[in-house]
Amino acid sequence: MDGNGRWATERHLPRNSGHKEGVKTMIRIASACNDRALPYVSFYAFSTENKYRPASEVKGLISLMSRMDEVADELVKRNIKLNVMGEISYFDEKIQAVIRDSVARTSSLTGGVVNIGLNYGGRDEILRAADMYRSCLGKQPFGDFLYTAGQPDPDILIRTGGEMRLSNFMLYQLAYTELFFTETYWPDFSEEELDAIIREYYKRDRRFGK
Ligand code: FPP
Repeated sequence: MDGNGRWATERHLPRNSGHKEGVKTMIRIASACNDRALPYVSFYAFSTENKYRPASEVKGLISLMSRMDEVADELVKRNIKLNVMGEISYFDEKIQAVIRDSVARTSSLTGGVVNIGLNYGGRDEILRAADMYRSCLGKQPFGDFLYTAGQPDPDILIRTGGEMRLSNFMLYQLAYTELFFTETYWPDFSEEELDAIIREYYKRDRRFGK
């Protein structure tokens, strides 16, 4: 969800109001994916590296995590389960409680999954999974130890904000994913653009290396 900061700066607003607007877009796009019968959607909200941003921005971003209950409200309405990827013990107890409560409220829902990366890093996820895989002596598939256990690999990755890199997102899962990059800042990302990307996706020939 890149480009929140620039969206705000261009409007002479503090960067955190871009992130605030970004939460609205996240809820709107999660709903749009559900309307389009896309059962799995993942959002990268806070990376393991984001905590090294200026303290005021980190504070603002973390306080936005308390809006997780609003995200959960929408997911409950739509029968979608919330799955958090990342090490949430980094957040203070109050935020952790909101996150845990939001996850718990949706835990038995069956109409799809929304993954949200919070203090998430793809390399961390792989190391953590490797530890667990070693402990089970390889008796279970490696994917069972990723945050996305039981889910298929993503078909589409969309990065907004014009940068063309993965920035430590779902490094294991994205091996054969189709990548899309758009200049649009995340708060401006629309259902129309999502549809255009899906149409483009269907034109691509996926060979999975074969
Ligand atoms: C990248 O834009 C975006 C982020 C670092 C944060 C995204 C987080 C949210 C939308 C809120 C998450 C909240 C909940 C409740 C899960 P940037 O700051 O790098 O933008 P820039 O490249 O324009 O500076």
